[in-house]
Amino acid sequence: MSHLNIPVASLLILSLAAVLIRSQSTIPARYDGFVYKKRAASTDTVLIEAFYDPVCPDSRDSWAPLKQAVDHYGPTVVSLIVHTFPLPYHDNAFITSRALHIVNDLNSSATYTLLEAFFKYQEQFYNAKTNNVSRATALDQVITFASKTLGNSIQSALTSGFNKTKTSTKTRVSFKYGCMRGVYGTPFFFVNGFSLPVSDDVIDYNAWRKIIDPLTTKQHGKTEYPLTVF
Ligand SMILES: *[C@@H]1O[C@H](CO)[C@@H](O)[C@H](O)[C@H]1NC(C)=O
Ligand SMILES: *[C@@H]1O[C@H](CO)[C@@H](O)[C@H](O)[C@H]1NC(C)=O
Ligand SMILES: *[C@@H]1O[C@H](CO)[C@@H](O)[C@H](O)[C@H]1NC(C)=O
Repeated sequence: MSHLNIPVASLLILSLAAVLIRSQSTIPARYDGFVYKKRAASTDTVLIEAFYDPVCPDSRDSWAPLKQAVDHYGPTVVSLIVHTFPLPYHDNAFITSRALHIVNDLNSSATYTLLEAFFKYQEQFYNAKTNNVSRATALDQVITFASKTLGNSIQSALTSGFNKTKTSTKTRVSFKYGCMRGVYGTPFFFVNGFSLPVSDDVIDYNAWRKIIDPLTTKQHGKTEYPLTVF
């Protein structure tokens, strides 16, 4: 998260701090989330934030068109941060989210690779598929899956990552942060901090373009208002 520019980071952290102090939680050392392609997120870009559950089919379905739209714009135009938001009724949501936080700490270039793999093969982590395995076995399956995806050399670091309280804390912080921003399901999107209306329909590529295009043509600070407004 060292890629957040100071202005937006300060704004976001200040607003986060205000809520966190009220709830007497711990302020995280860095702004939550995974920065897509290390694009600098700042007030100079259109900032999209997505709250995702790695084992949620609607999150999965929303990813390809969002990615395509973000890729369409240059890194100086649009940036993206994904936050994990494990839904309580998905049995493996927290451990898959935690795996993403662990991997992000180990190698932030691999985070989105693992997220996409979870989306692609998420069915093996659905409730019904892990119904009669123990929690330990389900965790083993997640670790094995992530290691196969990213290379077996990551396996021991991943296993010990699951043994460290701080990786659980990080995953909880993401969840709490989503709660504070009014997230109640996934996928849940914010554009420049404003939430998009929740809909059962996938926001497809063209819909994303319609949302983002008008924001990129406006030159910030140069919007002309009729003088009568003032
Ligand atoms: C980090 O992940 C990327 C993408 O998976 C990979 O290409 C790179 O080799 C990894 N770096 C390390 C140090 O493992
Ligand atoms: C769950 O248990 C049943 C009965 O013991 C078995 O037939 C089934 O294959 C198991 N399912 C999984 C996903 O292991
Ligand atoms: C996890 O922590 C426990 C207790 O601290 C320790 O006994 C165990 O060896 C650790 N396992 C791994 C894989 O690091």
